[in-house]
Amino acid sequence: MDSLIKLFFSILLISSHIFGEINGVESSSSNHHHHHLSGPKKLFVFGDSYAGTGNIKKAHAVSWRVPYGTTFPGKPSGRFSDGRVSTDFLARLLGIKTPFAYLWKYYVGKEQLRYGMNFAYGGTGVFNTKSTSPNMTIQINLFEQLLGDIYSQQSDLSSSLALVSVAGNDYSNYLALNRSIAALPIFIKQVVDQTELNLRRLHALGLEKIAIPSLPPLGCLPLYTSPQGCNDTFNALVNYHNSLLEQVVAKLNNETRQSTFAIIDFYNAFMAILKNKGESPGSERFETPLKPCCEGSCGNVDEKGANKYTLCDDPESAFFWDGLHPTQQGWKFIYSVLGKALSASLLKL
Ligand SMILES: *[C@@H]1O[C@H](CO)[C@@H](O)[C@H](O)[C@H]1NC(C)=O
Ligand SMILES: *[C@@H]1O[C@H](CO)[C@@H](O)[C@H](O)[C@H]1NC(C)=O
Ligand SMILES: *[C@@H]1O[C@H](CO)[C@@H](O)[C@H](O)[C@H]1NC(C)=O
Ligand SMILES: *[C@@H]1O[C@H](CO)[C@@H](O)[C@H](O)[C@H]1NC(C)=O
Repeated sequence: MDSLIKLFFSILLISSHIFGEINGVESSSSNHHHHHLSGPKKLFVFGDSYAGTGNIKKAHAVSWRVPYGTTFPGKPSGRFSDGRVSTDFLARLLGIKTPFAYLWKYYVGKEQLRYGMNFAYGGTGVFNTKSTSPNMTIQINLFEQLLGDIYSQQSDLSSSLALVSVAGNDYSNYLALNRSIAALPIFIKQVVDQTELNLRRLHALGLEKIAIPSLPPLGCLPLYTSPQGCNDTFNALVNYHNSLLEQVVAKLNNETRQSTFAIIDFYNAFMAILKNKGESPGSERFETPLKPCCEGSCGNVDEKGANKYTLCDDPESAFFWDGLHPTQQGWKFIYSVLGKALSASLLKL
């Protein structure tokens, strides 16, 4: 990395105002009304766009184009949402700042990496999906390379939480390649087996607290719904994935003779919100929860520069932002539904 550029960014980043604008990091410590878990003080994040905060290159993703990021930080930040994503809300729950994306590690000082690091790249899976984004094995390699350098295996990792986001890109890629639906259960087993290897590896590297979300109801994502609503066939396959994942987590916890791994139950949180049209029964916050705020080819324009998408008036009135991702408001409600059960399961780790 060019040292002048590095110096320039270091100076720039001294101002936390500018810092916030660049990376979209907020200070969660100012939220006095939030009850923070006393526990993990660093967050290491692996996976895909549900957790990513901007590793993906600008040329490779719509998440770096308007209207992504309009709610927070006010312009595109590489997050696949109008604002904050899963990682931001988990960090808030821990009472720490959102960790920097790996991409920024050359530009910020060690002090600013004290909340951990985000290795997630939008579009990735446990297997190769996009040529432009590294799969989870490669992401863990990147993490491993920093051990003993930026992070110490003993003191840093024992006070850390890992978030391992596997939200379904392996499956959307499988479907996009027109591979056999009948053989999908075999592939699901392969995905969960590979996830197990990744979890074992993270634990072997020294991470003692590891949270892994269940797959969301993929059959309810706007991209896969029909006028009749959610695709139950797809959701049945998602349930198969989630039951295998639960078995793996139970097995790993038994083997490590302690609670090391916890599932974050996205499936039921998504389902509850879609059913209740909001956070709780009767809240009716989202009039049409399956309708995304940004409809069409979100973030793309045609040759004449005209938008290939339409936007809703208020992103807070929508659960989904685009065909695949929740809005910031959606994520906020997901974490609020997970609430106490999530805090309790993370505290047990
Ligand atoms: C991850 O990506 C690397 C590089 O493309 C590849 O060699 C490796 O086989 C991939 N891992 C898995 C589990 O697919
Ligand atoms: C998959 O099938 C669709 C519809 O038949 C077709 O448009 C598409 O090109 C196919 N994709 C691949 C990768 O073969
Ligand atoms: C539902 O999902 C399954 C599995 O992905 C797919 O084969 C089927 O065509 C989908 N059904 C509808 C109505 O889209
Ligand atoms: C835990 O592992 C032991 C052997 O190490 C086995 O006997 C026991 O059945 C396992 N328990 C569960 C719940 O898997």
